[in-house]
Amino acid sequence: MIPANLAVTTQSHRVATTRHYLMCRPEFFAVTYAINPWMDPAAGASAATAVHQWEALKRAYEELGHKVSVIDPIDGLPDMVFAANGALVVDGKVYGARFAHSERAAEAPAYLNWFTGQGYPVKEPAFTNEGEGDFLTLDEMILAGTGFRTDVAAHMEAQEFLGRPVITLRLVDPRFYHLDTALFPLGDGNIAYYPGAFSEGSLNVLRRLFPDAILAGEADATVLGLNAVSDGLNVVVNAEATGLQDSLTRAGYQVVPVDLSELRKAGGGPKCCTLEIRS
Ligand code: ARG
Repeated sequence: MIPANLAVTTQSHRVATTRHYLMCRPEFFAVTYAINPWMDPAAGASAATAVHQWEALKRAYEELGHKVSVIDPIDGLPDMVFAANGALVVDGKVYGARFAHSERAAEAPAYLNWFTGQGYPVKEPAFTNEGEGDFLTLDEMILAGTGFRTDVAAHMEAQEFLGRPVITLRLVDPRFYHLDTALFPLGDGNIAYYPGAFSEGSLNVLRRLFPDAILAGEADATVLGLNAVSDGLNVVVNAEATGLQDSLTRAGYQVVPVDLSELRKAGGGPKCCTLEIRS
């Protein structure tokens, strides 16, 4: 058993750093096509409810002291709210997205134009990749998903452009079609993940790199609990992921629960709505 005073020492080490996020108000949100198992066009979704939930997420970031920029939504691009897919930004350099499905293709130039307008150097990708949906940045490396959306060739392209080591991980469960639906960086070089989303080989890579990772069970994964955003101390996470929240609290993180149930009808959660701009 860990002595109580040691546990307290560990917890006091968590430090939040101020972030800059890009978000897109879901004014034109809808479920009109199905490109992942969460989406049911017959059931649809409410843009008004999505906007309401999204506003609360934006407010949560601002109350934590983070800066939020917004990109204008475009009529006819119902998934544009999922800003994480718009690009990957590291060291102020922008690696653009190239979507796997034609329904979302027009989002890539929209995001790239936004960054160009803000004066960022951008790279148009040669290979299919869905931005931070499949690229998760830690201090020492970038973890990159493949199997459903992002091409392995894009992992190499991102590595060459950004000069950061990129580790390829294979996703095997269609419910967790983007890496950010199954794993998130906690800060301090650690991560949380749902083991069931990964191939056996990739799971061994994760175990080797992150022996102290927080592991989530299927119940938390299936409410998109792993689609969370940590600033090193505060973790913005879907309200329904209560088991994961307990694990995070025990490990010294401050949990900030949000209700994004309407966005989940498209297969998205807090992280999907959030693109980090790393200067
Ligand atoms: N409906 C969107 C899609 O399937 C959801 C994207 C969620 N974004 C994410 N970063 N996981 O592409």
